[in-house]
Amino acid sequence: MRGLEVSNDTSAFEVPVVLDDRGILADHCVRQALAMMDSHGLVVLTGLLSDREADEGLDLMRQTIDDPDRHKCTFASETDNRYVRRDFCSLPSTPPVIRFAATLCQRLEEVYSEYCGRSRALLEVITLTSYLGSSHQYIHRDPSGVISLLVAVEDVSDQQGGTVFVPGTHIYGGAGNKHGGNAEELMRLFRIRCNYRIMLYNLKKLWAMRKGEGAPLASGEFLDRVFSTRWDEHQPNLLRFVLGKNSQFSLAMLSPGTLWKLYRQRETLDKLFRLVQAAPRKGTAILYRSDLLHAGPDNRSSRPRRLFGMSIARDIVETKYWHDGYSPDPSLIAHPMSFGDLLEAAPRHPVPASSTHKDNALVD
Ligand SMILES: [Fe+2]
Repeated sequence: MRGLEVSNDTSAFEVPVVLDDRGILADHCVRQALAMMDSHGLVVLTGLLSDREADEGLDLMRQTIDDPDRHKCTFASETDNRYVRRDFCSLPSTPPVIRFAATLCQRLEEVYSEYCGRSRALLEVITLTSYLGSSHQYIHRDPSGVISLLVAVEDVSDQQGGTVFVPGTHIYGGAGNKHGGNAEELMRLFRIRCNYRIMLYNLKKLWAMRKGEGAPLASGEFLDRVFSTRWDEHQPNLLRFVLGKNSQFSLAMLSPGTLWKLYRQRETLDKLFRLVQAAPRKGTAILYRSDLLHAGPDNRSSRPRRLFGMSIARDIVETKYWHDGYSPDPSLIAHPMSFGDLLEAAPRHPVPASSTHKDNALVD
């Protein structure tokens, strides 16, 4: 098998943000964003935040990351979290955090409103930091029925690795009829092929780390990441791979029939699907349907990769399902918020019709 091929060209999914005189995304941007969300499952909104606003977001995230009592996320990459390869934690519902989240919601209200009613739940507000030595997540779908947002509060370089997406693989009524009615099977095959390559990539990297290349391994880390019995769906864990204890990728998925199909359909898969990696500039936001195939890659640089994240439900969500797939902060669980609550949680910041929002601050 060849290595993982990833394109860094996200121009087909980008909308340069213009705000109208109400301080929200201008109509023509909304139309473009919705068209991209529908056809590709994601949209990259460049320049949604000014530098000053992004700095304010980064400050809020730093305050939480520096708090030893922060609430760690439980939905992904726990082993990376344990060895400080990643720091995924929820942001508490403090007034500045809610104001920051509210301003993002207000600016994107016309896009969100197409999917999320005002009574729908704010599922989580989080910060995602990845360090050198982290594992590349397997290509996966998040729990369905959610619109998720990632915001770059600093420039993210190719080496730091922005989120990887497979455009056009989101699920909707009749999506399986695409590609000659074979869409589901082809997406399944593509995902298996990617995840096979990701497993090899992660194993190779861990082996190199064991030999002293890249980030040094902590005591016991190699065994924990490759042979642990602990649940973690995004490690190259051979034990759980063989035992079928990883729903993202396991040996059971590589039946002779599947291997034959992978060989037979190799050119079709190359033609239909591609991995695209966003390397968002400071202030860029990525909005995506949660069931779009995607992965948080490893960080190949010594500079931490920091992202702000927020997810809003599109329908009612069972509490267990919510907490299994998303990580609400205890303060959000104690005082749940809806999309409508969030829209009202900050004053609006109108900007002159003739200007962009670049000088508009989130917090006065
Ligand atoms: Fe995910």
